[in-house]
Formats: sequence, structure tokens, C-alpha cells
Amino acid sequence: MERKKVVVLGSTGSIGQNTLSVARENSDKVQIVGLAAGKNLNLLIRQIREFRPGMVSMSDEDSASLLREMFPELVVFSGPEGATHLVEEAPARVVVAAISGMVGLKPIAAAIRRHMDVALANKEALVAAGRLLMNLASEHGANILPVDSEHSAIWQALQGRRIGEVRRVILTASGGPFFGLCREDLAQVTVDAALSHPTWSMGGKISIDSATLMNKGLEVIEAHHLFSLPYEKIEVLVHPESIVHSFVEFIDGSQLAQCSDPDMRVPIQYALSYPKRWPSTWVKNSFAGSRFSFYEPDLATFGCLSLALEAGKSGDYHTVVLNAANEEAVRAFLAGHISFVAIEGIVRNALHAAVPVKLNELEDVFVADEKARAVARKFIESKGGA
Ligand SMILES: NC(=O)c1ccc[n+]([C@@H]2O[C@H](COP(=O)([O-])OP(=O)(O)OC[C@H]3O[C@@H](n4cnc5c(N)ncnc54)[C@H](OP(=O)(O)O)[C@@H]3O)[C@@H](O)[C@H]2O)c1
Repeated sequence: MERKKVVVLGSTGSIGQNTLSVARENSDKVQIVGLAAGKNLNLLIRQIREFRPGMVSMSDEDSASLLREMFPELVVFSGPEGATHLVEEAPARVVVAAISGMVGLKPIAAAIRRHMDVALANKEALVAAGRLLMNLASEHGANILPVDSEHSAIWQALQGRRIGEVRRVILTASGGPFFGLCREDLAQVTVDAALSHPTWSMGGKISIDSATLMNKGLEVIEAHHLFSLPYEKIEVLVHPESIVHSFVEFIDGSQLAQCSDPDMRVPIQYALSYPKRWPSTWVKNSFAGSRFSFYEPDLATFGCLSLALEAGKSGDYHTVVLNAANEEAVRAFLAGHISFVAIEGIVRNALHAAVPVKLNELEDVFVADEKARAVARKFIESKGGA
């Protein structure tokens, strides 16, 4: 059987490394033909030695020059467009999109235009450009395969069903490290505390999004686009144990949930094996004696979730602004420039300042994104979110 040829974008990150772990376990079924990273040269070198891709991309130019010297046979792309060039040239059938943030959008669009399947971890691209990306995918016959655990759960529960049979979907949320705290408590939290997720091990940006609950808001928007569901049919329940990854409730009142240990290799492998399932050795699922709990989200304390839900209902332009302002605010928080609670204030202010225009093509999204970032940066500089 011919192996699936796969490109991993963001191979040095949390999802990227988990993807390579799945590829390692399934080396008879998966062939890594391309890897893209940002700055982590040492890890990329180790990955090149192990997986022997024909092409790589490194956004850092100096690191890319070193790679060209070290591996003369390897095709090395570089710079901000490097990952997109890699996708345009790689002889791959599947692209795992695991670059964090809006910078992941261009290579995803390039993969769709080449009719490749996109195993999509990057949620920011769908939040900013969901309608246009989904239209592009159907125009080019490209499949978008969810990697986010909640969306993988919904996707799995929907197999063989019609979307018209769905009464609602319920996305579960861990609640993050600050579940149960009040707004006064949140004013004091540190970067380290915000990065310490209780159940998942993830990159910095998504860890902060999980702590503010913005992550769940981004996922609601993601679900809206992936499954063509109106916002009224998408709900959120906090489930601190992170075992039930989401529910689909059908019109007859039956709910189907997908459950497993909180391990991203499960949804990553499903996206790679789809429509088949491959055996796995790492999942233990030892739930005897466990108690599972579910709570309504505290929207008054975790205002980022409310902002995301409102932005989703307001339309495309607002979700671009939401994402851009959030990326800028999270970056500023991680750099120690603003407080945790200021993230919400900056996103709210940027949304209030937005003057929506129609987004007809991806270029319009990039322009709107840049504008929103500039506005958010001004609020950050003036501590306008505090
Ligand atoms: N982690 C999870 O469990 C999880 C779950 C669901 C969804 N997601 C989504 O998946 C995406 C990745 O998350 P993550 O946690 O894996 O993030 P991460 O650990 O921060 O990894 C980000 C990856 O993107 C690379 N990168 C950054 N800028 C780049 C650029 N300009 N060009 C090429 N590569 C670039 C980084 O490279 P360097 O490190 O080499 O600089 C790294 O490999 C996010 O959109 C997140 O929301 C993550």
C-alpha cells in the first residue's frame, strides 16, 4: 500500500511534534515529505534526520542558510512565504496545518488550491476567513479535516448523519487553569499561572486562549464554519476532566459524544487515517472510578468567550478583528506588557472601533487583519485595555 504523503506545517510546535509521533508509530502508512518551522533550528534538524523529507521551510533566514549548508540535497524555503512555497511545491496529499495564528492562513489556502486534504489544527485561519476558506475548499474539492479535539469529536459523531438531523452541538471546555475564579482573582494572575493548563500540554498562544476562554469562543466560530451550523445550535459546557471532547445532539434527543484521554494524537491520527481507523497503543482510557462533571461557562468572569460569541453573530469582519486583536493582546501579555484581564479589554475596544467592510476575497481579510492589529497595538501602548 502506498504511504500517505504528508507535509507538516509547524512541525516544531506542540501539534507538529504530536503529528510526527503519529507518523513515527505509523511509518508504514505515513511518509513525511515536507516540514515547516519558524525558528527552532535544532529541533528541525533532528526531525530532518529522522524523517528525511525532501523539502523544508524555515521562516528564519539565517537558520535556513545553515540548513542549506548542512543538507545540500534538501530543498529549503525560507522567509515569511516559505511555508506557502513549500505547500506549492511538495508532492503531498495531506497538509497538517499547525502553524499558530493568522500567519497560517496563506499556506492553508495554497494547500486547498492544490486540492490537498488539510488536517486543520490552526483555528485562527478559520476564525478570520472561515466563509472564504470553506468556499475555496468546495470550489477546489479539498477536504478540511478537523484536528481540534472538539471538532474531531463532532466530526466523528456526525459520520453517516445529515446536518439537518442535528438539534445542537455542545463543545466541551476544560475551563482552563482559572476555572472557578472571580474577576478580582483574575486581575492578579501571572504569565506562568496562565500557561499552566490543567489537562492539555499546548503552545503558548493557545494556552493563554484557554485560560481566558477565548479559545472556546474561537472554536464556536470554527464549528460554525466547519459544519455549516448556525450559532444558535452551538453551545458550550465546561468539563474540567477533558474526557468528553464534545457532544452532538440529534433531533430525536439522542446525544453522541466522543471520549478519550486528553491526547492530541487521537484526533491527529483520525484526521490522517480518515476514512479508516488505525490501531494505537498509547491511549489508556482508564476511567473506572472517575467522575465527570459539566458546568455552564461563567460568561461574566470570562468575557472573552462572550466577545467571541457576539463577534461570530455580527459577521465576518468582526471575527477578523476579534482574532487579530486577540493575537496582539496575547503576545503583549506573554511579553509582560499588559495584565491578563487587559486581553479582554483590548479585544473589546478593538471590536468597538471596527468599521466593517465586505470581505470579498482573502486579500480583503489580510487588509482588515492589519488594520485591526494596528488599532489593537495602539490600545496596548496606551494601556487602553486595562
Ligand atoms: N496544542 C494543541 O493541543 C492544540 C489543540 C487544538 C488546536 N491547536 C491549534 O494548532 C495551532 C498550533 O498550536 P500549537 O500549540 O502546536 O502551537 P506552538 O506549539 O506554539 O507551535 C507553533 C508552530 O508554528 C511554527 N511557526 C510559528 N510561526 C511560523 C511561521 N511564520 N512560519 C512557519 N512556522 C511558524 C512554530 O515554529 P518554531 O517553534 O520553530 O518557531 C511552531 O512549530 C494553533 O492554531 C492552535 O490553536 C493546538
